[in-house]
Amino acid sequence: MKNYLNYLIDGLDNGFLPAFFLYDDVGSKLYQERIQKPDYYLYQKEYEIINMYAQYFYGDKMLDMGSGVTNKMEPIKKNYNEYWSFDIDEKSARASSDKYMVGNFLEFKNDANFDVFFMGSTVSNISLNDIETLIKNCKNIIIAADFAKDVDIMIRAYTDKDGVGEAMEKNGLTNINRWFGTQFEPESMIYECVWNPITFIVETNLIFTKNTNIVLSNKHYKYNIGDKIRIGQLRKFMKHQWLYIFNQFGTVTDVYVDAEDSYGIFKITSR
Ligand SMILES: C[S@@+](CC[C@H](N)C(=O)[O-])C[C@H]1O[C@@H](n2cnc3c(N)ncnc32)[C@H](O)[C@@H]1O
Repeated sequence: MKNYLNYLIDGLDNGFLPAFFLYDDVGSKLYQERIQKPDYYLYQKEYEIINMYAQYFYGDKMLDMGSGVTNKMEPIKKNYNEYWSFDIDEKSARASSDKYMVGNFLEFKNDANFDVFFMGSTVSNISLNDIETLIKNCKNIIIAADFAKDVDIMIRAYTDKDGVGEAMEKNGLTNINRWFGTQFEPESMIYECVWNPITFIVETNLIFTKNTNIVLSNKHYKYNIGDKIRIGQLRKFMKHQWLYIFNQFGTVTDVYVDAEDSYGIFKITSR
């Protein structure tokens, strides 16, 4: 099992940090603000699909993986005997259910036969290797994923005029400073959000405006003006690409989409 320092070192070595560094108390509250922004279509699309197709999700125990705090799952919760929340942020997990677990979903093993729900397009922010691990470890998993669409629509979701998206990313570096004693200066960094048409990823980066040296566990990281650290990697595949990927690691048994076919919820069982 990797500890968080190892995740951070791996991340800094590759210029890309795992999204879970965003989510302390402050980050979780910022996320709550984000989902209420009119341009953050992801929440609205998922809400639409859940309300339309809730009857097709039922069973004994469900686990809301990376639950955050949300009312969105209510129509589905009614169809299960038990609702468990799971989050890396203890307050979020606890606020969502009196049955809760705190941990890293990349290290979760579904020994209790939950139907695992992985919502909020969180899948877009983890690597393909991690998607494989998750599907195999969860056995029964329901994944919400965003599809590639008009570039402006995708970018606007992460660049709200009140700066909530930017504050979330910068809070990631503030957390890292607090947890690991590093000395990033997020306030001096520039937030950038760009669509990469080769990888089908919306990248959210923080750009250094000062030459900066970071020391972490006897390792030295030297950043020059203009260098970037990426925190968000928001993969926006087309529906058939998601199907292809999920079917590599399991079997997709059903797909539910919104009226515009722009966002999907996939039911997957591992082989
Ligand atoms: C994009 S939000 C989704 C929240 C909610 N499921 C929704 O649909 O609105 C991602 C959530 O996953 C949690 N999270 C991120 N990385 C995690 C990890 N590695 N293990 C457990 N929880 C994680 C965050 O704390 C946050 O609450």
